[in-house]
Amino acid sequence: MNSYLFDKLPDGRDVIAYEIGNDTVRATILNYGGIIQKLLYKGIDIIGGYDKVEGYLVSDGYQGALIGRYANRIRDAKFTLNGVEYQLAANESARNNHLHGGMVGYDKKIWDVAPKTDCDGEHLVLTLVDPDGNENYPGTVNVKVTYSVCGENFSIHYEAVSDKDTPFNMTNHAYLNMNGIAGGTIYDQTLQVNADFMSSVDDKLIPVAKVPVDGTPFDFRTPKLLSEELMHCDDEQMKKGEGLDHNLYITTKEATLWQGKKLAKAAVFAGKLGALTLYTDTPCVQFYAGNFMDGDYPFKGGLNREKNGALCLETQFAPDGPNRGEAILRAGEKYDYTALFRFE
Ligand code: BGC
Repeated sequence: MNSYLFDKLPDGRDVIAYEIGNDTVRATILNYGGIIQKLLYKGIDIIGGYDKVEGYLVSDGYQGALIGRYANRIRDAKFTLNGVEYQLAANESARNNHLHGGMVGYDKKIWDVAPKTDCDGEHLVLTLVDPDGNENYPGTVNVKVTYSVCGENFSIHYEAVSDKDTPFNMTNHAYLNMNGIAGGTIYDQTLQVNADFMSSVDDKLIPVAKVPVDGTPFDFRTPKLLSEELMHCDDEQMKKGEGLDHNLYITTKEATLWQGKKLAKAAVFAGKLGALTLYTDTPCVQFYAGNFMDGDYPFKGGLNREKNGALCLETQFAPDGPNRGEAILRAGEKYDYTALFRFE
């Protein structure tokens, strides 16, 4: 366990980096946004990000960050809950959507961080109080996120309690590349997903229906190459996302036990470095292949932040949940979900 001053925010606040892990898996986490700044597998960095805080401030990619209070999109930036309509920031202005928690989401907050070591491994406990009315959401939410590295496992445990009913849906927005982040696009890497259904989306990337993946390019039930042809094919849904940027519903009984919970085997993402298996207890995962990266804001070490240069596997509830009465955290109830990335 090690920590050091990573950089300073423009207002002078310190951005501290914390390192946890072992010889096989090592993570560097920032108190700013809870960002996973580095994720080393056998010494090779597999995550997109920056060497200086400025990169995170100017790019619009949520690299490696914790996302909340509501990850993904909310249509027309509004929802009605308990008879009250709430207007949120339409920070994805071109589509008039609320995206990833609004103007100052959890990705832009300084979190309190407490390191912890036990016989299982090394952990970081990040906490944040998200006040009532912040970003116009109802209720004060006490949020706790635990990052753990134990053997070949890297996990993120999300916990929260609110004092009023509120939409709540957290994820992490890590850009992963299983050739190593310096290894070019993901076109030679494979993805397998245990999902029988997906959300089909409209032009604003808002779900319109839950449909079977059968016969679509989104049938990843057997491993598929994430080739350029697949992601830029003529399929209407692929065209809407400019490639893979879709929500899949995890449907499998294959599971593992982790920190006392049963997590479903959601996906396997594999490249030259090996396979990364994602286990989770959230109902869905958004797969986003960095379609909107276009060579701007180079990553650490001057690496090209190119289109399809990484894959995000965002464990979550389906997008726009509050407008379907889903993903509501009731006052006093506990939000408790985990994403486990296992290197195999
Ligand atoms: C979304 C993309 C969006 C990206 C922003 C992803 O979670 O699915 O559509 O462009 O976040 O970085």
